[in-house]
Amino acid sequence: KSELRLGIAGLGTVGANVAQLIERKSDLLAERVGRTIRVTAISARDRDRRRGFDTDGMAWFDDPLTLAREAAIDAFVELIGGSEGVVHEAVKAALERGIPVVTANKALLAHHGVELAKLAAANGTEILFEAAVAGGIPAIKTMREALSANEVNRVYGILNGTCNYILTRMEKEGIGFDACLKDAQALGYAEADPTFDIGGYDAAHKLAILTSLAFGTEISLESIFVEGISRITIADILAASELGYRIKLLAVALRTDSGIEQRVHPAMIPARSALAQIDGVTNAVAIDSDLLGSILLAGPGAGGAATSSAVLSDIMDVAGGFVPPTLGVPPARLQPYQRARMRAHE
Ligand code: NDP
Ligand code: HSE
Repeated sequence: KSELRLGIAGLGTVGANVAQLIERKSDLLAERVGRTIRVTAISARDRDRRRGFDTDGMAWFDDPLTLAREAAIDAFVELIGGSEGVVHEAVKAALERGIPVVTANKALLAHHGVELAKLAAANGTEILFEAAVAGGIPAIKTMREALSANEVNRVYGILNGTCNYILTRMEKEGIGFDACLKDAQALGYAEADPTFDIGGYDAAHKLAILTSLAFGTEISLESIFVEGISRITIADILAASELGYRIKLLAVALRTDSGIEQRVHPAMIPARSALAQIDGVTNAVAIDSDLLGSILLAGPGAGGAATSSAVLSDIMDVAGGFVPPTLGVPPARLQPYQRARMRAHE
């Protein structure tokens, strides 16, 4: 196959950015995966809204379920959000057709991830979700690939960019909670319903996914203790600061004698610790494991470009396996190997 035909459902902060980048970086992506990646079908609510990319030649679908069921596509990219209804049905429909799914939707995975992974396997396909946890940080690939020989004892960190952005600006600029939240929404960081962010549920969704990968357990959203940041005031933050602490919304999963403990809540962290230095929309994922010890991954946790970076890496995996440039070898020299990888994939 020379071309990977994508159907993208959801053309908001993330979806429009992904489509724009596929247009802008098409030569580079084709060079790296050995085939052209083309968006051939799209769906959103408002057909007339301009999205910043050329929609000529793309089939429009009012309904993402019809797109998933009927469009002539090789992969379905779900960037709408929400765990139930048409989004859930559309992802299932694509997998039932044996079409791989790429999604950034942590709510969907936290509620139905095991069912969807089983459905994918039963139909000889896959569901990829690097962007669902910590935006652009490669937390999923690290957990699945780099740490595959390790036993994880603890995974924890700052998993919600909106909350960290709000807490940082409240502390450093003295700006009130509501104004900070409005700015986070305007910047495209917040969920469509920001209660998911400030209530701690978005971090809980991400923690549920990480926990399942880290400990090889079923996803268990119900067992997570969740407290958000909506009751944190500037006075609380300043009082913590006087004592040498910073307030962060932490998500923690750890192995205990009685099982896996999972919780999301605001915590006072010593100001000099690495996690306390994580500011703004940045996320951090810390993993303690038996062979590697402790690692900390930090980087942009929300926003169009950072999230698209992760979505595109999954799309490139679907396209046939991204072959990282070998030291000193120009990408063109890798073509024969890439073609071999592609044949293996087909
Ligand atoms: P937006 O709210 O910006 O975009 C949602 C898109 O979905 C819009 O284009 C909207 O259409 C479309 N849509 C909504 N309902 C329907 C429907 N019933 N049928 C068809 N299209 C529909 O969301 P984001 O781009 O911010 O987020 C998308 C996903 O990515 C979510 O799962 C989110 O959790 C996840 N994510 C977001 C990150 C971020 O930084 N924003 C980071 C990591 C993950 P229209 O434009 O016409 O209204
Ligand atoms: N609303 C989420 C956040 C988007 O603020 O972290 C990234 O998952």
